[in-house]
Amino acid sequence: MLLLALLASFAQAAFVTEPYLQLGPRPAPDRLSILWHAPDADATWALEHQSADGAWMPVQRIVQRRVTLRGTRPFRIYEAELAGLRPGAEFDYRVLRDGAPVFTARGKAIAPPQAPARFAVVGDPGAGSAGQRAVASRINAAQPDAVIVPGDIVYPNGRLKHYLSKWFPIYQPVFRARISAAAPGNHDFEECADLAQPDCLAYFHVWSPPLNGPAGNAVALMGPAADQQAFKALAGAKFPQAANYSFDYGPVHWTILDSNHVMDWTRPDLRQWLENDLAQSHAPWKFVVFHHAPFHSSGKHAEHQRLRVLSPIFEAHGVAVVFAGHVHNYQRTHPIRFVAEPYPTPLGSQQPIPGQTIRDPNGVVYVLTGAGGAGLVDGAKTGRPSTWLPFTAHFEARQHSFTQIDANPELLRIRQIGADGRELDSFQIARK
Ligand SMILES: [Fe+2]
Repeated sequence: MLLLALLASFAQAAFVTEPYLQLGPRPAPDRLSILWHAPDADATWALEHQSADGAWMPVQRIVQRRVTLRGTRPFRIYEAELAGLRPGAEFDYRVLRDGAPVFTARGKAIAPPQAPARFAVVGDPGAGSAGQRAVASRINAAQPDAVIVPGDIVYPNGRLKHYLSKWFPIYQPVFRARISAAAPGNHDFEECADLAQPDCLAYFHVWSPPLNGPAGNAVALMGPAADQQAFKALAGAKFPQAANYSFDYGPVHWTILDSNHVMDWTRPDLRQWLENDLAQSHAPWKFVVFHHAPFHSSGKHAEHQRLRVLSPIFEAHGVAVVFAGHVHNYQRTHPIRFVAEPYPTPLGSQQPIPGQTIRDPNGVVYVLTGAGGAGLVDGAKTGRPSTWLPFTAHFEARQHSFTQIDANPELLRIRQIGADGRELDSFQIARK
């Protein structure tokens, strides 16, 4: 017991947040990043990963950022970019402090284009609820290759302290071993834009996606000038560019978008970036992820379906599935196309986009997977198609859940898994 207590206190002393895998600035089948948070003390940190012949290879460059936000106990964020990994293969890694190993885990490199991959997609999760913990445990058991989060990552808003209490501790068994990536939701950005809470917008501090999205689109920062300055200094180039990006994992091209109000997706330059991103990909499957579900049968948030303005682009470029959250349940549409009626440009902040949905086997499936942990809504609509809009094919709101995707170049098998382990929905999309 004493030994266990000593080991526990040692681990506590070594890390504020244990190491977690990220896409990093240049994700590729042989490259990813590992981040960790450590107490604010001078130490020499190293990260080594094991090569195929068993030798430990040190990462040459580890970037350190010191977190000194007002009201937060100072700590440091370390980021190491690993290269030379065997594509799609597991690898052992260890983190050393002052020459002594303090953490060891087995990670997995990004799968190359033709290799199958399993993904977990879970929206609106970080409420610290029993449902979140149950779903996290199911995700861990499913052994996904990567976890994707369509926004409202932590509640009540995206403060660093909520990441440290309701995010990393709950998913650490997965995150130490597999990449995670997220799209920002309203609780992450809009409801955390006031830096009178100086640890807000922690999205830009803790996530490390590639900075390959459109530049120059920003959260409208508020709060004391000194806190805004401290935020920007810590976020560096990640603010604001990290809010939109894309990457490839196995047979899937993932495009991650910011659907908050500040992003006006009627803007020609933003639409052109999205068009280029999708057109340039030759991946067998294209998925798009953002927070505000554009097609759903709930009354709540019905006025927030404005990203319908992007549907023609998704259709033109063969996007198979769009994943979203915001409404706290699970809903899936039939494959649909959307014909918008004329809408004002720019869009107002609360305007739904009027138009017509047309069922079409070549259309896009919209999966709302917002049942990751926050309080569920519309339980009574489960199993009652008469209460759904015609484009909805499935609706589950009686328990928390996540989406599991098995992708190979020819076939997608997509299942919704409940907190109790039951399969709540299942469908497949075959390559045409
Ligand atoms: Fe939301």
